[in-house]
Amino acid sequence: MDNRQMEQAGRALGESRRVVVLTGAGVSAESGIPTFRDTMDGLWASFDPQQLATPEAFARDPELVTRWYDHRRLGCADCVPNAGHRALAEAQDSLEARGGSLALLTQNVDGLHTRAGSRDVVELHGSVMTWRCSRTAQPVSPPLPPEPWPEFPPLSPAGAPVRPDVVWFGEALPEAALARSYEALEHCDLLISVGTSAVVYPAAGFIEIVASRGAQTIEVNPQDTPMSSIVTFALRGKSAELLPTLVDAAFSD
Ligand code: OAD
Repeated sequence: MDNRQMEQAGRALGESRRVVVLTGAGVSAESGIPTFRDTMDGLWASFDPQQLATPEAFARDPELVTRWYDHRRLGCADCVPNAGHRALAEAQDSLEARGGSLALLTQNVDGLHTRAGSRDVVELHGSVMTWRCSRTAQPVSPPLPPEPWPEFPPLSPAGAPVRPDVVWFGEALPEAALARSYEALEHCDLLISVGTSAVVYPAAGFIEIVASRGAQTIEVNPQDTPMSSIVTFALRGKSAELLPTLVDAAFSD
């Protein structure tokens, strides 16, 4: 890892007051949750997303889709936040202590940022940890138990299949999440992109929005992405290692 890049990125973060962080599946990789596109161990390596993560797939085979998402839900419930998640929560504390802010925009549906202590997390692609009636959108309450649904597909009180609160391919992102994201992107001093392949829009475009305004950007990822050529600092490595180092460099006076 390039120490000079880290030093300069740490200074940029320490001098910022309004920070946006965009995270993808890579930030949860070291918590044991598979990413999507990493070959071999990525989720899509063993499943075809078009067969599972679309409204059409759910309509065609609600049992298969709800079994798969309940498997992912239980997998996430068994995992714990890693040092990268915790570093982002600490960064939010440090920035707020200086009168600044940190807006955390995540593409992940695993809930680990909130469990690590991050506040006001924007879940761009929803959550697999909460479910709703597919007909009435009535949320399932109380929160789901740490064991599988008793039947598949699970049925709501209205008698319709229950679905996870995740955004499926072809569905719109939550309007409130998008509005909060664009508001934060327009006014931030710095954006940090962590663990995303930066190929799924609109999230991938967030880096371009900030860079085009001339604000600084940091990418934390083991490998290059389509956005690597426009970021200010490219920190190559695992987020559970790099984020604590970056946050320490920024805020430990
Ligand atoms: P991807 O699987 O596309 O990309 C994961 C990224 O994390 C890759 O760039 C990896 O190199 C990187 N990575 C792997 N291990 C890492 C580690 N230890 N530390 C840091 N980075 C690491 O996942 P996303 O970019 O999140 O959308 O995918 C975006 C969206 O595509 C997902 O939210 C999902 C998927 O379709 C929906 O389901 C709507």
